[in-house]
Amino acid sequence: MSSTNKKQLIINAFAMHSPSHLNPGLFRYPADKGSDYKNIKTWIALAQKLEEAKFHAIFFADVLGGYDVYRGPANLDPTIPAAAQFPINDPLYSISAMAAATESIGFGVTASTTYDAPYALARRFSTVDHLSNGRIGWNIVTSYLDSAARNFGLDTQIEHDERYRIADEYLDVTYKLWEASWRDDAVNWGHDAPKSSGEAEGQRYADPSGVRQINHKGKYFQVPGPHLCEPSPQRTPFLLQAGTSTAGKAFAAKHAEAVFLHAQKPELVRPSVDSIRQQAAEGGRNPEDIKIVAGALVIVAETDEGAQAKFEELKKYGDREGALALFGGWTGYDLSTYADDQDFRFVELPAVRSMVNHWASTVPGTEGQKWDKKTIAEYLTLGGNGVKIIGSVQTVADELERWVTVGDVDGFNLSYASIPETFDDVIRLLLPELQRRGLFWSDYAVQGGTFRENMYSKQGQSRLPESHPGAKYFWREGQEVPPYSLTESK
Ligand SMILES: Cc1cc2nc3c(=O)[nH]c(=O)nc-3n(C[C@H](O)[C@H](O)[C@H](O)COP(=O)(O)O)c2cc1C
Repeated sequence: MSSTNKKQLIINAFAMHSPSHLNPGLFRYPADKGSDYKNIKTWIALAQKLEEAKFHAIFFADVLGGYDVYRGPANLDPTIPAAAQFPINDPLYSISAMAAATESIGFGVTASTTYDAPYALARRFSTVDHLSNGRIGWNIVTSYLDSAARNFGLDTQIEHDERYRIADEYLDVTYKLWEASWRDDAVNWGHDAPKSSGEAEGQRYADPSGVRQINHKGKYFQVPGPHLCEPSPQRTPFLLQAGTSTAGKAFAAKHAEAVFLHAQKPELVRPSVDSIRQQAAEGGRNPEDIKIVAGALVIVAETDEGAQAKFEELKKYGDREGALALFGGWTGYDLSTYADDQDFRFVELPAVRSMVNHWASTVPGTEGQKWDKKTIAEYLTLGGNGVKIIGSVQTVADELERWVTVGDVDGFNLSYASIPETFDDVIRLLLPELQRRGLFWSDYAVQGGTFRENMYSKQGQSRLPESHPGAKYFWREGQEVPPYSLTESK
């Protein structure tokens, strides 16, 4: 393939408003600035640095409870010393400051359909879409922590597939608020108040007949509307999603514009990628409108040995108890109840056994190794459950290229072992090589454009693509009412 027709990679930074994200304990590493997460200037500087390097976006993960399963129940003692995604601030508040200091980089923010009300969430995202000039994305999650459920007044989590059914109706509510509550030309439609109306003369802010209630009455939500915000540049924020179950993939194929996956090998991610694209096509969407982004930790140096040495050095600062706490939150299983020498490749718990066997058969350098608590903890300490690509510039670039050709992914969400050092290495060493190979752009496709324009590399594509299910709610200039309202049974 010549460099001119190679797929252009999407490169995002994967971060969290916490001292550590997928690197429990690394705040102890001298170069790590994770503990500065409270300082807005840190985030502004990072956004500027990543924009200078032409990253597509910073993608903020988020959780709504502590990882308290390990040594539990409801015990945060192993989590707190490691700062394992705890404490954690709400990412949305930092976006406007970062947007004010940048022009083109996008911002993905995680928010939950299980614990946030759609009416309030739609308003928050519209607000930031306005203030960032269309550069906000929503990472739609259904959440997975029991600790979150308890703090939102539930005894335990809502059943898994039911959470996705709720999420599906949730999206309908938000599409209606973002796309069908204000007509495209409702604001600045240029009509003056008629003298006869008794109103003060002059231009009216908006056309009252262009602002409409949505009157949503569904199984899970009752939302009359109208939306509190006037139309923002993207209306619906760019939609990202990360779910790997059957229900999660079906949801992604319907709603997501970018899907975030974790896998160890491109060969193994390919069936999921194909299935999401195929389901999207069956649902009437253009499969090219779904960008697949793989999570990866890249440790790159001048030589393979240098990168490996760096990785080993970083690993020394990892917190094993924190890593096992993360495992407990992700899976719901408390490994503290097992003996230290238990080999989890053979444990009686099918879910854990299959996950660990997957790692045992895919993680390089672990052939024949026992997968006990220590091995699991060390494996999860840096980069969590995502692939770790460690090596020279050539080695890493070759491997990323292999992910594209074999896995058919569109890009990567790069996590960090040390922030911002891991990104500094990527910027200094890897990105110039990807550019040299014709795999990464030298500038934003649309400078000063919206998140959606730059994710699709298409000027003018600020709104949802026409084949997206949210597009049926568009209320365009000249239409008396939004077309969906004429057909939908109420
Ligand atoms: C790579 C990846 C990243 C995720 N990031 C988050 C996150 O930041 N916050 C969150 O609450 N859930 C996150 N999730 C959880 C999912 O969005 C989803 O709610 C959860 O995985 C359960 O759905 P599933 O069974 O379909 O995977 C992530 C999942 C994956 C696979």
